[in-house]
Parts: sequence; structure tokens; C-alpha cells
Amino acid sequence: MKNNSLFISLEGIDGCGKSSLIEKLITRLAQHSVLCIREPGGTVISEKIRDMLLDIKNKGIIPRTEALLYMAARSQLVEEIINPGLAAGKIVLADRYIDSTVAYQGYGRGLEINLLKTLNQFCTGGLKPHLTLLLDITPEEGERRRRTDIPDRLEKEGITFQEKVREGYLQLAREEPDRIKIIDAAKEIEAVADEAMHYIQPLLDKDPS
Ligand code: TYD
Repeated sequence: MKNNSLFISLEGIDGCGKSSLIEKLITRLAQHSVLCIREPGGTVISEKIRDMLLDIKNKGIIPRTEALLYMAARSQLVEEIINPGLAAGKIVLADRYIDSTVAYQGYGRGLEINLLKTLNQFCTGGLKPHLTLLLDITPEEGERRRRTDIPDRLEKEGITFQEKVREGYLQLAREEPDRIKIIDAAKEIEAVADEAMHYIQPLLDKDPS
């Protein structure tokens, strides 16, 4: 069956500008059928898990619980939303996916990286994005951009944590250079969107198979 579906994930530390890029990409991909999702969230169950994860009152969540909750939210999202979207030939644009868990709970919290990769495989049925755009930025700049937000539980972790997460993402990009493309997110948003389209366009031009 011919299907020109495409699965793209956006990754980066807090404040890297994913939301602004998504808005730009929606405009630039207007002639396509685009399905936007965000993690954690996107289904009734996953949104309930999101509330649990981001609530600053939940100080007692230990890293293993945290990882498993993100994974649980993700498996539900893959089954209910991502797989059907791809089967219908859509471009699925994900604000965070598997690499977030490896970067935050692995490199950030110190959980075992390979175990998290195996769990990711389990909870997604092995579904990986065709393309992952990593918006790279320093934690200081990320924090500056978030200055007006009320920080959630993860955002309260501070610069050292964000630095570990950033390094983790860069390591993942070195391991999978074909899938994960690094974009300098300190640039202004139109330039970031241009670079994102530079990676997306060839996939749109490809013959569906
Ligand atoms: P969100 O408000 O969606 O932040 P952002 O706009 O930066 O994506 O909150 C998601 C938070 O959850 C963010 O701090 C990253 C964190 N996170 C993990 O720690 N592990 C994960 O697997 C995912 C998907 C997110």
C-alpha cells in the first residue's frame, strides 16, 4: 500500500524553542496533513500521567518511577494516536519522544542508558522517527527564554541538570547521525525553521514506498 506518512520528532532541553518551531512548521507544511502531538500527553490516559509528572507537589517521584510513567504515557500515545496517524498517511510531528527519556532520565538522572533504550523499544513496539530535529542551546539561554514561565517539576532542576541532558542529546546525535540532526537553536526562529525544512524537504520529495 502506498503511504507517504512521515514521523518527525523534535527534541531539546527546556526552553530550546520547540513550540515556536512547531508553529512555523505547521505553516510551512500547510499543504500536507499534519498531526501534532506532545509528550507526555496526547491521550486521556497520557494527559493524566502528564499531570502527575509535571506537578511540582510530586517531589517524591523517584527516577525509576519517573521513567516508567513517561514510558507508559508513550505506549498509550503510540497505540492510540501515532500508529493510526501514520497508517492514514499523515505527517506526525512529535514534541518530544524516545530520546527525551534517554536524555532526561538516563543522562540527567543517571538511570542505565541501554535499559532505557530497551524499554523505549518495548513501549513503542520499536517505532522510531524517520527524522529527529535536536534544537541545541545552552542551558543558560534556555533558562533566559523561560524566565516568564512558571517552572514545572523538571524545569526546577537547574542548570547542571539541563547541561547533563544537553550532553546526553549530543551523544545520541553522534550515535545516530542519520536520524538525529542538530540545529543551532540560538539562531532566530525563521533561520531555525529554514534549517528544519532543509532536513524535512528531501523526505517529502521521496517516492512513497
Ligand atoms: P513540557 O512542559 O512539555 O516541556 P517542554 O515544552 O520543554 O517540552 O514538559 C515536559 C517535561 O518533561 C520536560 O521538562 C522534559 C520532561 N521529559 C522527561 O524528563 N522525559 C521524557 O521522556 C519526556 C517525554 C519529557
